[in-house]
Amino acid sequence: MRYESITEAIGNTPLVRIDPAVHGLHHIDLYAKLELLNPFGSVKDRAAWNMARPGLTAAAEHGSQVVELSSGNTAKALAVIAGMHGLGFKSVTNRMRIPEIKDLLLLLGADIEELPGQSECLDPTNTEDPLTLFHRELSEPGSSYLHTDQYFNPRNTEAHATGTGPEIVKDLDGRAPDWFVACVGTAGSSTGVARVLREHDPRVQVVGLVAAKSDFIPGIRTLDEVHEVGLFDPATYDTVASVTSDEAIEGMLTLARRCGILAGPTGGAAYYGTVRHLRSLDDELASDQGAGGPVRRSAVFIVCDRIESYLSYTKRRRPDLFRQPARRNDPADLTDAEIAAAPGVETPDAQKWIERDRPLVVDLRSPFAYAALHIEGAINIVDELFDELVRGGLPFSTRQPVLLVCPVGEQSARYAALLTRMGHPDVRSLTGGVIAWRDAGAPLVRD
Ligand SMILES: Cc1ncc(COP(=O)(O)O)c(C=O)c1O
Repeated sequence: MRYESITEAIGNTPLVRIDPAVHGLHHIDLYAKLELLNPFGSVKDRAAWNMARPGLTAAAEHGSQVVELSSGNTAKALAVIAGMHGLGFKSVTNRMRIPEIKDLLLLLGADIEELPGQSECLDPTNTEDPLTLFHRELSEPGSSYLHTDQYFNPRNTEAHATGTGPEIVKDLDGRAPDWFVACVGTAGSSTGVARVLREHDPRVQVVGLVAAKSDFIPGIRTLDEVHEVGLFDPATYDTVASVTSDEAIEGMLTLARRCGILAGPTGGAAYYGTVRHLRSLDDELASDQGAGGPVRRSAVFIVCDRIESYLSYTKRRRPDLFRQPARRNDPADLTDAEIAAAPGVETPDAQKWIERDRPLVVDLRSPFAYAALHIEGAINIVDELFDELVRGGLPFSTRQPVLLVCPVGEQSARYAALLTRMGHPDVRSLTGGVIAWRDAGAPLVRD
C-alpha cells in the first residue's frame, strides 16, 4: 500500500470478528470496527480531516490558527493536520483530565487554553459560560481562526456517513448489521453511521452509549450532558444506555487480553455495553427458529481509540492491575443511602456556623472558579487533589469541623459522606453549593 500523504491512510479500518468463546453470544456474530487503527490513533481522524480540509488553503494564506474545543482525540488529530500544513493549533477545553493526551498535544506544538465550564461556576453571579463566550467569539465574522466546530459541524457527521458507515456495509457483504453500538461524544460517528445503515435496512437497531451519571469515561458524555450536544438527536438511537468507568475498564481488559485489540476505555465501554444489551436478545433468538434452525444475527460496535493514552486513568481506578494496593476511601464505593444521609447545611445555618465555630471551609472547585469568587476564608483544594488526599486517610484532624463547598452541592455531599464514613465527627456539605449561597445573597469575595 503506497500513499502520497499520511492523510490518505485515514479510514478503511478493519472490521474484526470477536471470538464467540469470549463474548458468549450463541446466535449473534459480533464485530469490532477498529477505528483505533487510523493513523493518528482514533475515530476522530476522519472527522478532523473532513472538517479541516476545506479551510486549510485559506488558513495558510492568512496565517490562521486551527482551533477546536477538544481535550482529546479531535485535538490530537487536528494538531497533526495543522502541523502538516504549516499552521498552529490551539485546543480550548475546560479541564485536561488525561495527562498523556495533554503531554502529547504539547509535544505536537499545540497551545492549550483551559477555561472553566459553567458547572465550575467561575463567577457564580455570571450566567454566561466562558466556553460558550469563546465559542461565540470564534464564530464571529473576521475571526482569525480556522474553527472546525466539531459539536455543530455537519462535516463531522458526514465523515462517517461517507466513510465509516459504507465501510461496515461493504465488509458485511452489502448488508447492514442488526445492531450498531457506539459511544457518544459529539455524536458525529454514531449519527453518520446510523444514517447509512438505516438507508440499507431501516430495521437496524442503534444503541448509543454514554457514561453513567457523575462518572467519567474520557471522550464521551454522561447521561446528563448528552442532550447539550449540538449534533445529538435522540431520534438517532433506539436505545441510549449508560456504562460505568469500572465496566469500561472491564471491557477494555477483555478486548486487550483475550481479543488482541488494544482499545481505550470507550472501546471497552462499547464492547461491555454491546454484550450486555445483546445477552437477553440472544437468549430469545434461541427459540426464534428459522427454516434452517435459529436465525443468525450480526452486531457491530466501534473501537474509538487506543489503550496507551489511558494508563494513568486506569491506574487511578484499578491500582490492583498495576500490582499496587487496592484503592481505599473511594467515593465511587458509597451507597446511595450513604450519600443521601451526608450531613448538609443550608446557607443561613452555614453562615451562623462559620461565625460561631469557624469550620475549615474547603472549596472543591477549580482554581479559576475559586479565584473569581469564593466564601471568605475558604481554602481551595480542587476535587481531583482532594480525591488523592482522602485516599491516604483523613486529611483533617477530627477536632477540626469542616464545611465542604462545590458548585451545586453534589460533589461536596459525596465527600461529606465519605469523610463521615472515615470517622470525621463534624464534616458538612454546603447544600446547593456556591449557587445556593449566591442565590441566598450571602457574601462572596474575589482574590
Ligand atoms: C475516545 C473517544 N471515544 C468515543 C468518542 C465519540 O465519538 P463522537 O464524537 O463521534 O461521538 C470520542 C470523541 O471524541 C472519543 O474521543
